[in-house]
Amino acid sequence: MDVTEIRRPDDMVRITTPELAASFIEDQVALIKDQIQDKKVLLALSGGVDSSVVAALLIKAIGKQLICVHVNHGLLRKGEPEQVVEVFRNQMDANLVYVDATDRFLDKLKGICDPEEKRKIIGHEFIEVFKEEAQKLTDVDFLAQGTIWPDILESEDGIKAHHNAGGLPEEMNFQLVEPVRTLFKDEVRMVGRELGLPDTMVDRQPFPGPGLGVRCLGEICRDRLEAVRESDAILREEFAKNGLAGKVWQYFTVVPDYRSTGVKDGKRTWDWPVIIRAVNTEDAMTATVEAVPHDLMMHLTDRITHEVPGVNRVLYDFTPKPTGTIEWE
Ligand code: XMP
Repeated sequence: MDVTEIRRPDDMVRITTPELAASFIEDQVALIKDQIQDKKVLLALSGGVDSSVVAALLIKAIGKQLICVHVNHGLLRKGEPEQVVEVFRNQMDANLVYVDATDRFLDKLKGICDPEEKRKIIGHEFIEVFKEEAQKLTDVDFLAQGTIWPDILESEDGIKAHHNAGGLPEEMNFQLVEPVRTLFKDEVRMVGRELGLPDTMVDRQPFPGPGLGVRCLGEICRDRLEAVRESDAILREEFAKNGLAGKVWQYFTVVPDYRSTGVKDGKRTWDWPVIIRAVNTEDAMTATVEAVPHDLMMHLTDRITHEVPGVNRVLYDFTPKPTGTIEWE
């Protein structure tokens, strides 16, 4: 698609209140109904803010004519796939295809250590799984995408390829439905809240497409991946409890592929460290490090070393961007 065809109207009011969000929703529902009529729409629903808001908007407009496909690549955070099923299938009564492709992704990633190679495999496999699911369906004319305004600006500027929604095969020959493409992220969140999505979904911090795959450093193995997932869940829980969840831009844990000596219950251990990263940024091009209170760091260390199997140390990454990137891979 030629991105220059898409314009955020100069006179478009920024969505800053629930009333403005409600009026945006009303307009979009009418437009979607008009565009789709009695046809079917397919959506890759990751559970991230953008695709979730698009799903909720389309469900409101066309109900079960929307088919959501949630591909669990095994690299999602703790509780995320379950939340997608709970919110969309159980609460919103959506037409949701849930695919657990964990084994398939982890098999493909066996022996792969290079981060870019890992990204390529995860991206490619995602499209393959999605394509296979799409081929099982008949009479689908439209593909919905959670493209938002900054994605379009960044694609125009050539800063980055649009790596979230992008890359779905053109040969699939769908017409596109992009109902939030004129919105900034804060507006998408406001619309999501108005549509009744839970705060934990709407206020989600940015999460890379390759997920925990780039936080389980080097070759991904199941036990180290679980150490990333469990330590990330503890970090998120403690940040939420201590008022940091809405304040810090991105926070996560990383588990490297080397071990160190430790001691537990009087016995020598040979386990992995967990690295905590918590950063603030405007645009992800530069970032500063959050000054996490010392007491909280000690509590996190205690919980992670006692609750996460295979971990005997916790480190904090003090590096701003530059010189470090936000992610480790
Ligand atoms: P870096 O590590 O480059 O990250 O400082 C900047 C922001 O981009 C996110 N990120 C990604 N997002 N696919 C994504 O969708 C990726 O491959 C990817 N790599 C990094 C990162 O989480 C941070 O918010």
